[in-house]
Formats: sequence, C-alpha cells, structure tokens
Amino acid sequence: MIKKAVIPVAGFGTRFLPASKATPKEMLPIIDKPLVQYAVEEAIDSGINEIIFITSPEKHSIKKHFKTNKDLELRLQNTNKEEMIEKLNPKKFSKTKFYYINQYEQNGLGHAVLQAESVIGNNSFAVLLPDDLFISKKSCLDQLIDIFVEKKSCVIAVNKIDENNIHKYGVIKPGQQNQGSIKIDDIVEKPTAEDAPSDMAVCGRYILNPAIFKHLKLTKSDKSGEIQLTDAIRSLLKEEGIYATIYNGEKFDCGSKEGYVHATISLALRDESINKKIKKIIQDIV
Ligand code: G1P
Repeated sequence: MIKKAVIPVAGFGTRFLPASKATPKEMLPIIDKPLVQYAVEEAIDSGINEIIFITSPEKHSIKKHFKTNKDLELRLQNTNKEEMIEKLNPKKFSKTKFYYINQYEQNGLGHAVLQAESVIGNNSFAVLLPDDLFISKKSCLDQLIDIFVEKKSCVIAVNKIDENNIHKYGVIKPGQQNQGSIKIDDIVEKPTAEDAPSDMAVCGRYILNPAIFKHLKLTKSDKSGEIQLTDAIRSLLKEEGIYATIYNGEKFDCGSKEGYVHATISLALRDESINKKIKKIIQDIV
C-alpha cells in the first residue's frame, strides 16, 4: 500500500510576509496547530509511515516541531500537565520516520517532488501540499487510496472551481467516469478561463507511481522558470492511465489570506473549548 508521502515545504511564502520572514508559512497555526501538522496527520492516519519533507536550509523549525523535546516533556510532567505531552508529541508520530531533503533552488513543485526520488525508490507514493487543508469524514488521501487500490494507477484529487479562479490551478480534461473515478484525458497547469478544459481543478493531494520521476527529469521549465508537476503528469499520461476523483469534503486554501482566515474561523467554531466565545465575538462584530 502507500507508505511514503512527500510534503513540499520549501516555498518562500511571499503572500504571508512579513509573518513568513522568520517563521515558515507552513508553521503558521490554525488555532493551536501548525498548518503542516494537519497534512502530516492526514498522511499518518492513512497508513503512511515515512514522510519526506522537501524543505530549505532556513526552515529549522519544521524539523524541530516533529522531534521530541524531552526537556519540555519533563517540565510538563513535573508541573502536572501530562495531558499536554500527547498534544506536543502525539503517539502516532513515534512510528513515523521523517526525512528532510533540502531543495536549494526554488524551481517549482515538479522539481521539489523530484528531490524525493532516492527515498521513494520504486514505490507508489503520496504528495500532500500543506497549503490545502482538507476536513472530511473520510480524509482526502483515503479517498484517493480507494481509487488507487482499484486501479493501481496514479490518482489526483480535484474539486470544482468557478471560472474566475480556475487560472490558479492545474485543470483536468475529464474522460470516462465510473463510480467516483474519472479517467484523465489531459491536464494543463494554470490555463486561462477560456482555455480551461473543465472546471475540475487539481487540489493538493496526489498518489503517484515512481514512473513520474523519469517524466519529471524530462520536463522543461515553464515560462516562469518552474518545473511543473502537472507537466510531468501530462507526459506520463501518454504511457499510463491516470485517474482523478472529486474530493468529497471541505477544503481551505490556506495559501491565501482569505482561505487562512476562513479555516481559522471555521475550525474555531468546532473547537469545543472556545466555540461559544468565538460565536459570540463573531455575532458582536457582525
Ligand atoms: C500547485 C499545482 C497546481 C495545483 C495547486 C493546488 O500550484 O501546481 O496544479 O492545482 O498546487 O493547490 P500552486 O498553488 O503551488 O501555485
């Protein structure tokens, strides 16, 4: 099954400057948990036990965050705050191996994924983009795994996006559809609304076969100088069937300020320790 996941976290996070100047944007919290931890937990809950961060040398805090901190744990124990220890270092992390691979040049998502090749080897693997926060009964990754089990092919999560925003995403041209899976006939990165082959946009979860690496190596940079994962997927499509599934659940684009605030309000309203107060605050403001 899928045991390895790549989480790209090397980006500059320019949309969140100055907050992201010294703190990686992936470490910005939604309530009390850094954004990247939501993706890590989604992966571990789907049975992943090796997580490969594609990171940059300055982002020490991500590594620190997923390491045990014995001194802090001891202090919590000595001050009768044992319940915090599980929050700090969830048991499920203890069975997970974390890798940190530096991406020295910011050459795009495809280039980031390519850096994981030596650790992935000949295995199918997941890619989770931590900017996209998914909340659903069955996780987005589990929804992809269902299709992967059936098809043994690459699977990509998509969701429907209005035409004003479609240019921000990879977009698929859907082919035959069958019980939740959609055969991908074509895929394009960030088309204009007129050129978009559908309203089905790639959201940040993928399951890929290792054949993608060969195609990533052959993929040329686009006009912005980036090697796009979408372009490598498009090239792989010529050799093997690739499927999409429409994600069933809520999605927050935390790479944008409005999505980040939306996620914060939405999760605060379902956090039992604060939701009543937050509801009152919102009512008072509105
Ligand atoms: C990346 C991908 C794009 C995808 C998007 C999902 O774009 O290149 O195909 O639709 O993630 O969030 P980015 O948001 O990094 O520009």
